[in-house]
Amino acid sequence: MTAPLSQTALLLELEPVVAKNLDRHLSMAKEWFPHEYVPWSEGRTFDGPLGGEAWAKTDSTIPDVARTALIVNLLTEDNLPSYHHEIATLFGRDGAWGTWVHRWTAEEGRHGTAIRDYLTVTRAVDPVALERARMTHMSAGYHNVHGDEVLHSLAYVSFQELATRISHRNTGRATADPACEALLARVAADENLHMVFYRNLLGAAFELAPGQAMRAVSDVLADFQMPGVGIEGFARKSVAIALAGIYDLRQHRDEVVLPVLRQWDVFNVTGLDADGEAARDQIARHLDDLERAASRFEERRDARASRLAARA
Ligand SMILES: [Fe+2]
Ligand SMILES: [Fe+2]
Repeated sequence: MTAPLSQTALLLELEPVVAKNLDRHLSMAKEWFPHEYVPWSEGRTFDGPLGGEAWAKTDSTIPDVARTALIVNLLTEDNLPSYHHEIATLFGRDGAWGTWVHRWTAEEGRHGTAIRDYLTVTRAVDPVALERARMTHMSAGYHNVHGDEVLHSLAYVSFQELATRISHRNTGRATADPACEALLARVAADENLHMVFYRNLLGAAFELAPGQAMRAVSDVLADFQMPGVGIEGFARKSVAIALAGIYDLRQHRDEVVLPVLRQWDVFNVTGLDADGEAARDQIARHLDDLERAASRFEERRDARASRLAARA
């Protein structure tokens, strides 16, 4: 049995895969401009130093739950300095890894800019509450629970990028505003390319160190949380988001976890050590648990919808 690869060895071995997928990413990524997605002519000066009109909820017709999801998605994007710190510390700032870290950061920076401009101009959310929430959220920072482990981090971001893709896309639909939907579809397309990059890297790790890769995936799925988990009132907000079908357990299992696991073909990976086999068993059990939890949630949501319909 060969000894597990060290974190440094993993980074070195994966460097050529990073270089190849960076080229792939750059050839696929489409340049886009945040300012083109914002309806600037709808904007009005706010109160404060310029003496405009204060924000009022009636300024926008976007449904409440879509506003909640937009706030969660934007605050998540806002915490980019912390994410950058996490991956720059782990992956380094040199060579192909470093080029990726900086390019990825630049792309993510565009997301926060675009969504904030849109929300401010259209007056979709209270800009004072939003700014206070941003200060609180960024002041707390973000810490990756597996921050010093390369494969765990790659597994986490593979799922997380796909999760944000689904969340942005469904948030766009929930706004019923074609302009917002177009913007969030554009952002979601970026998140998908990020997911493919990380998923391909971990796919290569499955060939390099199958047992370690399986362990990483199993550990990450067991304690997976969305990156916005530290947002004030996150539990309450995520229930509202799940009830609206923007991001719920069913989507998490069937549209995020399963497709990524399928790409890695985890249930047919060979060359696992004992711990890798144990990790794969844990993944299978986790999928069963998720299935039960998702079904339970759907039943409760349906029952709630019927009750509300009967009352109305
Ligand atoms: Fe993003
Ligand atoms: Fe992303």
